[in-house]
Amino acid sequence: MPRHIAIIMDGNGRWARERGLARIAGHQQGAASVRTVTRACAEWGVEFLTVYAFSTENWKRPRSETDALMVLLEHFIEQELPELMRNQIRLRAIGRLEDLPLGCRNALQRAIDLTAGNTSTTLILALSYSGRSDILRAAQSLCLKARSGQLDPESLDEEVFRQELSTGEYPDPDLLVRTSGEMRLSNFLLWELSYTEIHVTQKLWPDFGKEDLLEAVREFNKRERRFGAV
Ligand code: IPE
Ligand code: IPE
Ligand code: MG
Repeated sequence: MPRHIAIIMDGNGRWARERGLARIAGHQQGAASVRTVTRACAEWGVEFLTVYAFSTENWKRPRSETDALMVLLEHFIEQELPELMRNQIRLRAIGRLEDLPLGCRNALQRAIDLTAGNTSTTLILALSYSGRSDILRAAQSLCLKARSGQLDPESLDEEVFRQELSTGEYPDPDLLVRTSGEMRLSNFLLWELSYTEIHVTQKLWPDFGKEDLLEAVREFNKRERRFGAV
């Protein structure tokens, strides 16, 4: 099993359009896939699962869609709490969380606090997340530390930098899954994905289930990871 799986959950809008439904119906169904996949990871002993739920660029979408997504997010977190507790899942979040509406932030913080002692999979929600922004923030924070004398710039190395990212306490993802066939990173975990194995599936996120994740893991297990060596 990969230790850390990251997923770019894409294709909710297309799933809804194919059915003549509003985009939000696709997001609702997508939330169900998050539940399924999280449960599977807990069952299989995957330590970390990071899901890209909302990018900073997604704020460019119509206000009606972003509002609906934020409501869905808040409800999802509240509804999932018993399931998270039952499966011993620890919830965490990365991204520009201060961009989220207060209701969402509160629900998120509550779930993070309540699940903090859980010992199965850590589910990390990437919310208002941007890989570039995260790297920039790390750089800014290190500059401030250097200016105040807490950090010797000469001692800055990859490990010190890595720890400053919002993912600093997690290992880099071993496997990245992107649904709906798109072959791009869309500003996700730019530092962390340096040597991650990539699996792209045509399946739209609301149709993605346990079997699909298992297929991605099987393919991952056939890969030879060289990390630049021979
Ligand atoms: C992914 O589905 C969910 C979010 C980005 C919030 P999309 O909403 O991007 O679905 P498509 O790409 O339009 O089908
Ligand atoms: C990536 O999907 C972001 C999330 C899944 C949250 P998008 O649908 O926003 O990506 P692009 O616009 O196709 O690159
Ligand atoms: Mg999309």
